[in-house]
Amino acid sequence: MTEEHYLGVKNLRRVFDVSKPWLNRILEGEKRQILKAVDGVSFEIVRGETFALVGESGSGKSTAARMIVGLLSPSEGGVTISGVPMVGREANDERRRLRRKIQMIFQDPYASLNPRWRVSEIIAEPIRAFDIIRGQRDIRIRVDELLSLVGLHPADSAKFPHEFSGGQRQRIAIARALASNAEFIVCDEPTSALDVSVQAQILNLMRDLQDQFGLTYLFISHNLAVVRHMATRIGVMYLGRIVEIAEGHELFNRPKHPYTQMLLDAVPDTDMIGRQRVPVRGEIPNPISPPTGCTFNPRCPFANERCRAEVPLLVNGVACHASHEGRLPSLMV
Ligand SMILES: Nc1ncnc2c1ncn2[C@@H]1O[C@H](COP(=O)(O)OP(=O)(O)O)[C@@H](O)[C@H]1O
Ligand code: SF4
Ligand SMILES: [Mg+2]
Repeated sequence: MTEEHYLGVKNLRRVFDVSKPWLNRILEGEKRQILKAVDGVSFEIVRGETFALVGESGSGKSTAARMIVGLLSPSEGGVTISGVPMVGREANDERRRLRRKIQMIFQDPYASLNPRWRVSEIIAEPIRAFDIIRGQRDIRIRVDELLSLVGLHPADSAKFPHEFSGGQRQRIAIARALASNAEFIVCDEPTSALDVSVQAQILNLMRDLQDQFGLTYLFISHNLAVVRHMATRIGVMYLGRIVEIAEGHELFNRPKHPYTQMLLDAVPDTDMIGRQRVPVRGEIPNPISPPTGCTFNPRCPFANERCRAEVPLLVNGVACHASHEGRLPSLMV
């Protein structure tokens, strides 16, 4: 990538020990069980763009997001913001300053909004915590302004979260993220719990705010259709790894990985331009004992011996032997 990148993620890994307690293991003769939730993920995000991570539930998207915002420590690998390494024990001033610029928005805003606080207190909290504005009056003016920005009414500031709909609550979560003067927002399935029409409104709002404030987004979704109009670039995750990474329109028009093709074929309104549909088949395997070689091989119509033995590397934006060998039928149309 030639442009200067804002976020750098390099060879990020996270394992979880999901073994039974020691005594059970002894009695039942079981080995220690290690789950690789994120298994060597690398990508970069340019300032002002929307990078999407897409994949079925369990592919490691949330774990990656939590490591990127500093909620979870990586087992291996690094995260940089504006070139500054963010992983490590000592919390120096520069790291703290950059960390403040990162906010996370979750699928369920109700869980992330304190139910006992009025909206005014919820939105004012980061303003006070980061000492962005002083004085009750000025803070109140700023809260009203933020509510208007996200399409709510200043009078809403006196209400409690339960008095709002799901979409409105997500607007409150966005207002709170903006209150901290965030420049990078990690959105983990922000619209997955909402009705389709409300989803579109929230996505439009997020795009408007991005244009207005030059925000950078990491947008996570299990649904490719949702990221279609948001993402400049997309990384497709499968069992902890990125299997394809491409510009948004490129990925939709010329998917290279059979898994990406399968996800696209599950989206009802995509143009197929003569490509044969890859039917959705099988389920994501148990991540504790993943298949050998390419972990997608039990579900892949193009799998062969090499696929079952050798892990494909991400080369030219795709991690697939058949794609590298030029033996995928879709590439011939
Ligand atoms: N704290 C944890 N302890 C054990 N396993 C976990 C933990 N968090 C996530 N996992 C496992 O890691 C894998 C990836 O999970 P997650 O990152 O939530 O995926 P996604 O967000 O793509 O659905 C899943 O198999 C999940 O069960
Ligand atoms: S490497 Fe083989 S099994 Fe994996 S996606 Fe490509 S063709 Fe399918
Ligand atoms: Mg998740």
